Amino acid sequence: MILAIETSCDETSVAVIRDGCVLANVVASQIQLHSEYGGVVPELATREHLRNLLPVARAALAQAGATLPDVSAVAATRGPGLPAALMAGFTSAQALAFVLGRPLFGIHHHEAHLYSPWIGGEPARAQFERFEPNVSLIVSGGHTLLVHVRGELDHVVLGGTLDDAAGECFDKTAKLLGLPYPGGPVLDRLAGQGNPAAFDFPRPMLADDGHDFSFSGLKTSVRYFLEKRPGLADDPQALRDVCASVQAAIVEVLAAKTVRAAKWLGVRCVTASGGVTCNSALRRELAARCSKRGFDLRLADPAFCTDNAAMVGILAERKLRAGHAPTAFDQEIKPGWALAA
Ligand code: KG4
Ligand code: ZN
Repeated sequence: MILAIETSCDETSVAVIRDGCVLANVVASQIQLHSEYGGVVPELATREHLRNLLPVARAALAQAGATLPDVSAVAATRGPGLPAALMAGFTSAQALAFVLGRPLFGIHHHEAHLYSPWIGGEPARAQFERFEPNVSLIVSGGHTLLVHVRGELDHVVLGGTLDDAAGECFDKTAKLLGLPYPGGPVLDRLAGQGNPAAFDFPRPMLADDGHDFSFSGLKTSVRYFLEKRPGLADDPQALRDVCASVQAAIVEVLAAKTVRAAKWLGVRCVTASGGVTCNSALRRELAARCSKRGFDLRLADPAFCTDNAAMVGILAERKLRAGHAPTAFDQEIKPGWALAA
């Protein structure tokens, strides 16, 4: 049984994993706390993690019907993330592993996202029997990465964003439109009643054959667009049309480049995870493009798209099965940890 902790940003999460099954995945979100500041405030995030960690851990153990002596390994996100936020979860995991005399898996947050599309429904163990090489898109408020997962625990980063993350582009554009934080889900909802072809926003780096992204120019073009049309966002239908048009631009770039990378690598499976994978247009666009090419598509379940400890625990279990046995003594947090090959 693995007890996993995730505190890299603004979700405090503890999961209990046994034999490939997620017995519990409790998440305390801090969105409400940070919304009045329009973004995550690191100091507040850390305090909130410290406040929430033990109640969340107790709830996860109770839900799993487990007690601490049942835990055979501990896992926690080691990086990348907000330094003090990581420290809150990781040092707790270290102490627990030390006291229980169990291995401690310090997990890379992005590597955990890579495995989240394989969680849910049936036990992950059964899902991993069907594991196939894939191209994985990780899109959230903090990261945008395209990764070639050559096999289990074997991946190469293809590209990433040169500036803003995709979720950041959603959030900053939504802010320009006067929508509340985090703007991504609100923009998605309004876009559902808008015309995606109403306005033509740029598709940054779509024509570029590489695997990198860039979203800050798109956000700036929305700002200039609105400056030239004062009051436009006060018209409800025009607002929905702008939302749909911006969303279409972000989604086309993400989906087209992901599927193009899979084709280029000769990979027949595409996966996606991270908060932006909740976006309804992105899910539709990836599904349409993958079905056209005959590719398998595995989208993380919305419950496992946003940050969660289940993905941390599932990855730790795969590492445990592969024979890794790291101790609590030889690791420390790595806030700027890049996902290596
Ligand atoms: O993975 P996540 O919970 O946290 C990190 O940033 O690590 O992702 C949050 C991001 C935010 O930028 C949020 O606006 C975006 O995911 N997001 C969405 C949607 N749901 C969440 N963006 C677009 N459409 C959505 N439905
Ligand atoms: Zn994340």
